[in-house]
Amino acid sequence: MNVLTNQCLTASVIPAASRALVEVTDLRKSFAVGRGLFGRPRATLEAVSGVSLQVFPGEIVGLVGESGSGKTTLGRCVLRLVEPTAGTVRFDGVDLMSLTARELRAFRKHMQIIFQDPYDSINERMRIGDLVGEALTIHRLATGEARRGRIIELLEQVGLRAEFADRYPHTLSGGQRQRVGIARALAGGPQFLVADEPVSALDLSVQAQILNLLLDIRDRLNVGMLFISHDLSVVRFIADRVLVMYLGKIVESAPADALYQNAAHPYTQALLSAAPITGEGRPRQRIRLQGDLPSPVNPPTGCVFRTRCPKATSHCAAVEPPLRAIGPHHYAACHYPTASH
Ligand SMILES: Nc1ncnc2c1ncn2[C@@H]1O[C@H](COP(=O)(O)OP(=O)(O)O)[C@@H](O)[C@H]1O
Ligand SMILES: [Mg+2]
Repeated sequence: MNVLTNQCLTASVIPAASRALVEVTDLRKSFAVGRGLFGRPRATLEAVSGVSLQVFPGEIVGLVGESGSGKTTLGRCVLRLVEPTAGTVRFDGVDLMSLTARELRAFRKHMQIIFQDPYDSINERMRIGDLVGEALTIHRLATGEARRGRIIELLEQVGLRAEFADRYPHTLSGGQRQRVGIARALAGGPQFLVADEPVSALDLSVQAQILNLLLDIRDRLNVGMLFISHDLSVVRFIADRVLVMYLGKIVESAPADALYQNAAHPYTQALLSAAPITGEGRPRQRIRLQGDLPSPVNPPTGCVFRTRCPKATSHCAAVEPPLRAIGPHHYAACHYPTASH
């Protein structure tokens, strides 16, 4: 685990850039679920319930939470790969929701996704070079020799030798596959990446290599990143700032150091106490999360976390706590946050 917890924070936590690269305001996404007779939906599930966030150029924002908390849906809505139900996403000042399908396709070169399994969406019969060069063709960025040159440059950027261009996907290891996934995402020259559990399927030693590659790419290309993971130690390694998501909502947001040393929300504290992270910070009391994540079809009244919270009172059942500042750049949605600043 050491290799992942030995965090090196190079970028400043709150970037100096005055304008956010990505600005998400009150984003919501509902799904109709449980089709009944005649295909009519029986219920609505709100996977993302009013999320606002910002990502600055060159900043890596971590998004953590248990499986089912809405991370993937949020990440895809931010890129408009999934159509949000409500809310706005501005990318470098452009309102993504106002773009037509055609405009959006052209816009895709600026913002890309890296998947957990990079082979989910590719044609296994294509050579690596063509897979990496797909965006160059789609966006008409390069042809012929220039295209070939750019493909080799992209492969080198992700630590693969030029000869990989002529190989087929099935000959690659898991780590090499993810490098190809990253090269594909970089082909259009994006300013923003959503990485959705990009190392969750990899062995620990390979995870560290891919995380270091992503850090290196951020440093070299100054891309902003929304980095999604259920694994707190992975997020700690890579993120400048961390958002904690629970049942469709952000319950805590803080610079990485503050979050890992001074978590204020009982949910974050429970996640941290369950995670095998050692090192600095105060010794942690083990807090057990009771029960399972409630169904987003029928979320608890008041605070979404209160059914599993050791601190919950009747007030928590009645009134939803807003996300409010509890320290410098540190926000928590709790009526009784741990005062630590
Ligand atoms: N296409 C869909 N239709 C219905 N429900 C969905 C769909 N996609 C996701 N969900 C539900 O939304 C919630 C959040 O899912 P997801 O965004 O995948 O969470 P995470 O990535 O944090 O595991 C879950 O309850 C999931 O079952
Ligand atoms: Mg997911």
